[in-house]
Amino acid sequence: MRIGILTGGGDCPGLNAAIRGITRAALDQYGSTVVGFHDGWRGLLTDSHREMSGGQRLDRILPRGGTILGTARVNPERLRAGLGDIRATLERNRIDALIPIGGEGTLKAARWLSDEGVPVVGVPKTIDNDIGGTDYTFGFDTAVSIATDAMDRLHTTAESHRRVMLVEVMGRHTGWIALRSGIATGAHIITIPEDPFDIDEICGLIRARFGRGDRHVIGVIAEGSVPRAGSGMALRDGGVDEYGHEIFTGVAAQMAPLIERDAGVEVRTTVLGYIQRGGTPSSYDRVLASRLGAHAARAVHDGAFGTMAAVRGTRMTLTPLADAVCELKTVPLELYREARIFFG
Ligand code: F6P
Repeated sequence: MRIGILTGGGDCPGLNAAIRGITRAALDQYGSTVVGFHDGWRGLLTDSHREMSGGQRLDRILPRGGTILGTARVNPERLRAGLGDIRATLERNRIDALIPIGGEGTLKAARWLSDEGVPVVGVPKTIDNDIGGTDYTFGFDTAVSIATDAMDRLHTTAESHRRVMLVEVMGRHTGWIALRSGIATGAHIITIPEDPFDIDEICGLIRARFGRGDRHVIGVIAEGSVPRAGSGMALRDGGVDEYGHEIFTGVAAQMAPLIERDAGVEVRTTVLGYIQRGGTPSSYDRVLASRLGAHAARAVHDGAFGTMAAVRGTRMTLTPLADAVCELKTVPLELYREARIFFG
């Protein structure tokens, strides 16, 4: 068989491990050929690709962050309009099946292509951990470790200065990174997109901590957090980008002056940003990505198209793409309530 692969959407640690997982399994186990398309769906639209070889060179990419194939976001309308070009690229390169590795946007496109009759098996990735039909996505564990390390450091400087530190972490629609890293580092406040925050409640909590002699507050703020309606705070509107994604205007920075005014303490903000997505993957992410990649190669050879490789507990499984993309995996409110035990 000739298998096409691509990495789409925002990059994350573990993509190269997944590329290696697919390629090693396809080449060594099934005697297939793997063609890597460059820069996500763009590589299919413009027929930019390379033949993947195995051996030592491929093994060396296992611990490397980023993606050797490059990645890009593509507007869904542009993709639909390019269906003819995509089919032509697949035919010209005699591609029997496609394995797109990506998050929500890439997997939705994969599902659409599958509905259009292209043999597809997806591989889920994202630091946000918000893909349905799988317990975890690779990239998440590394992002949480990076955020945890940063917050451990912020605790000590905040305490020295009697300050409030607001740490803004990624999580466009879901608060998985904020929740996990916040609990791990003993954060005093965690806000997530799933449960709008009340700025007065946050200020009250901060006043109470300083009032009883505590010297610092760490607040972990998911970038997609929003104030509760009618709670005395409104966020600036940044509009949407060309992919239909909301443009964030910096929620932590907008909370800071309100807290300073109310609690009379210094507030500093740190936006962790792309640091969370860059660099070498954790061992967990390397293993998960390798297994998901190998499982997707196997699914292709079994003819299990229209599915996505997934992990349930410790077992590899396949989830129909339609189920995986029908809704985002958000943080259950009971899990957030559990975290609130440690607030303050
Ligand atoms: O989807 C993963 C993610 O890291 C989000 O948490 C974040 O909002 C977004 O990507 C940023 O993406 P971009 O690379 O397009 O700025």
